[in-house]
Amino acid sequence: MRITIHDVAARAGVSTATVSRVLSESGPVSLRSRRKVLAAAKALGYRPNAIATSLRQRRTFTVGMLVPDITNPFFSGVAQAVHRVLFGQGLSLLLVDTDHSIEAERRFAYHFEARRVDGLIVISNDSSSAFFEELAGRVPAIVLVDRPRSDRLDSVRVDNHAGALQAVAHLATRGRRKLAIVSGPMSLLSSRERLEGFRAALKLHNLPEFPQYEAVTGFSVEQGVAETRRLLELAAPPDAIFAGNNTLGIGAVSAIKALGRRIPQDVALIIFDDLYLAEAADPPLTVIAQPVTDIATTAAGLLLEQLQHPSEWSPKEILLRPQLILRRST
Ligand code: RIB
Repeated sequence: MRITIHDVAARAGVSTATVSRVLSESGPVSLRSRRKVLAAAKALGYRPNAIATSLRQRRTFTVGMLVPDITNPFFSGVAQAVHRVLFGQGLSLLLVDTDHSIEAERRFAYHFEARRVDGLIVISNDSSSAFFEELAGRVPAIVLVDRPRSDRLDSVRVDNHAGALQAVAHLATRGRRKLAIVSGPMSLLSSRERLEGFRAALKLHNLPEFPQYEAVTGFSVEQGVAETRRLLELAAPPDAIFAGNNTLGIGAVSAIKALGRRIPQDVALIIFDDLYLAEAADPPLTVIAQPVTDIATTAAGLLLEQLQHPSEWSPKEILLRPQLILRRST
């Protein structure tokens, strides 16, 4: 038979209100009563009823997280680090793969709202934050990660512009002059900022700008293969390629090797996002790494801050520094 809060109160010789205050650590309780309640709960093997706790405390101690693709190491890396922070604070993370779909993202957001999650951490497929800004009136805390930005919600992402500047500066020091970019979609803030940074850096370093060297596509490996192949099959191919994210970078490596070109002798390659296999690749891949753990811990911290101090909260936009990791593909 299920042990209830009433059984614990009877065994401890206190009221159910005292038991509730002890177990939820809310409100004044004498040390003597606290000890009696904890001893009774342990002796009876009492397990709090999460639904009853939620109704009483108006919290579910759960956070929903929406990511475009859980198989992408950037998204899964952020999710894992978010889970670790929240779990340490007694919160459970409910992770959902939105499969790069805005419609799916909204459907799951409504699902989490109906489940009364305490908060949402979102890596959105949308170019606009309007949907989540509207939802913020019904979900206690929402943090946007990576994309998009918002003037009304907390957001955290890597400084994409700075990362692109670092990539071009590095290629320039390597004497590369015909730089191409394989960019993700303009609908996403991360790829837009990387392309803008790439263009600004070419100007900064007095490097020629070739419209035909700007390949704007999606964020899939296949699109990375196709666009890299197209660039290298031009009559005058680039001498360096900047891949706009991890999946495009994997596609670029595949295409370069399929064409029998050598990295970096024939074409230098630098990739935005570090990769598990970057070190083991042949040659090891030079990347612009995102501070994945810092992004995640910052996002979780922003959410906890909003939950714990709602009256003092105001939206923050945090940009974290990328890191050039030199290997041998440039
Ligand atoms: O690989 C996924 C990409 O999309 C990453 O670069 C991340 O920044 C996101 O924008």
